[in-house]
Amino acid sequence: MKIRKAKIADVEAIYKLINHYAKQGLMLPRPRAVLYEALREFTVAEEEGQVVGAGSLHIIWSDLAEIRALAVDPRFTRRGIGRHLVEAFLAEARELGLARVFALTYQVEFFLKCGFKLIPKEKLPQKVWKECINCPEFPNCKEEAVIIYLPQGG
Ligand SMILES: CC(C)(COP(=O)(O)OP(=O)(O)OC[C@H]1O[C@@H](n2cnc3c(N)ncnc32)[C@H](O)[C@@H]1OP(=O)(O)O)[C@@H](O)C(=O)NCCC(=O)NCCS
Repeated sequence: MKIRKAKIADVEAIYKLINHYAKQGLMLPRPRAVLYEALREFTVAEEEGQVVGAGSLHIIWSDLAEIRALAVDPRFTRRGIGRHLVEAFLAEARELGLARVFALTYQVEFFLKCGFKLIPKEKLPQKVWKECINCPEFPNCKEEAVIIYLPQGG
């Protein structure tokens, strides 16, 4: 498995992955235009030349970033790909000098395994709801908030 920053040619595969899960109500759908605009935030996992996982690290504020749009091809789950992507985001966040990374998710167990802890959603600053306000589930969505604090000074 190879973890690398996304390229323009990956957009179609990322689009398929995200929208596969969006149809099941597990993720927010994202049009291609949004993926192109945010492409530099995306990292992908590649297996034999195919994109089998993707996700993005979105900076919210001076001390906070969000893991968004994390999805692993259902044929390739439970093989450590999701964890490798999360580790890549945490390394990227540390490199940028960010103190905390959070996610809003239905996959709490997965994030706990990756070292995150559960927090009440209300603890997150209002700024994080920017993406949520256009979602039909807002403000009653059942996603939970998980967060990890990064060691500083590296
Ligand atoms: C959640 C998701 C990214 C996990 O990816 P993955 O590649 O299967 O995860 P990994 O294999 O790296 O799993 C890491 C650990 O979490 C555990 N885990 C993964 N998914 C889990 C789940 N749904 N429930 C409980 N534990 C889970 C694994 O067993 C593994 O545990 P271990 O360290 O004891 O072996 C993937 O299932 C997915 O794309 N889901 C749909 C989209 C989604 O909900 N994304 C999250 C949006 S924020």
